[in-house]
Amino acid sequence: MRSAPTPRDAILRMQPYAWEPPSASIARDAGVPEDQVVRFDTNTFPWPGVRLDSLPPLVLNEYSDSTYSALVAQLNEYTGLPATRITVGAGADEILDLLAKVYIGPGDHVVQSIPTYPMFRIVSEIAGGLVADVPSQDLALDREAFLRQAQSARFTWIANPNNPTGELLPLDFIEDLAARAAGVLAVDEAYFELSGLTAVPLIDRHPNLVVVRTMSKGFGLAALRIGYALAGDEVTRALWRVRPPLSVSVVAEALAVKALEDREAMRDRARQIVRARETMRSALTELGCEVRDSAGNFLLLRAAPHVAPALLRRGLVVRTFPPSSLAHDYIRVTVRAPAENARLLSALTELIG
Ligand SMILES: Cc1ncc(COP(=O)(O)O)c(C=O)c1O
Repeated sequence: MRSAPTPRDAILRMQPYAWEPPSASIARDAGVPEDQVVRFDTNTFPWPGVRLDSLPPLVLNEYSDSTYSALVAQLNEYTGLPATRITVGAGADEILDLLAKVYIGPGDHVVQSIPTYPMFRIVSEIAGGLVADVPSQDLALDREAFLRQAQSARFTWIANPNNPTGELLPLDFIEDLAARAAGVLAVDEAYFELSGLTAVPLIDRHPNLVVVRTMSKGFGLAALRIGYALAGDEVTRALWRVRPPLSVSVVAEALAVKALEDREAMRDRARQIVRARETMRSALTELGCEVRDSAGNFLLLRAAPHVAPALLRRGLVVRTFPPSSLAHDYIRVTVRAPAENARLLSALTELIG
């Protein structure tokens, strides 16, 4: 019998994404009812940014507007950038993939710090790029080493704030990086609605800068799959050459428009999460935990190896890191609704207090 076709070398070499298991299987493994499972591992919001029943009537038998003009008009109001500088995709992850498709080829030098968002490496390696990791120092970006690597890289990835460390880099550093980077600088601002800091004003001065955003976090719409890139006209034109015509469905677009129409409600929810984060941080510090500063909707804290499995047995799912990660003796916890945070805190108090 004929053997199956061999994938490209780059696909065989890359380390694929480790999918988070669904709550139903976590509940089964932990022996708890599914409604007792709380996801502290996905950095999502506890409240949806829009109600499903707020959908207007939609035409489903025809293809929708592939320029997403209604969504782009809202994003124009939200970001202040014109349509010629906005690229919409199915989540920030699709935008990262488009960027790699456009700018990274086999053997290209790509830079990231570690630990960071795993998709940077994955999309780069799928495209055949060679990723150089700049290890963080005590989980903070090694700015000098990073700048040095970026000076010879075709592509530089950075998340601001960074996932999983929560570190927020100041704009003057981002501007220095954009000026000195030999190639593209992608700044992933997935948590912008929490941090309030953006590199968007730098786009005018730096044609190599791309800002990546999502509606999965502050807008509470992770399941909708809406992301976008903000960049100068040339980068945007290049992204439009490769973007699929309709990876965002008419349903997702209509709900995203609704959510963007009510930005004050989003800001109010984001403020609640920031307040809850600081309350949780103080409580954990009082327990004697080492907790990192965070500008996102999550906290990184040092925890002994027995803590995560013991939380899981109570249905509380936190993010852990493999032994090879610089964050291996930490857990990352998403800040959720007050009652859920209280459940986590009381379990942690029992386990480490
Ligand atoms: C830094 C960063 N970028 C992108 C994403 C994914 O965004 P999306 O859901 O829009 O694909 C995440 C999700 O955790 C993230 O932490």
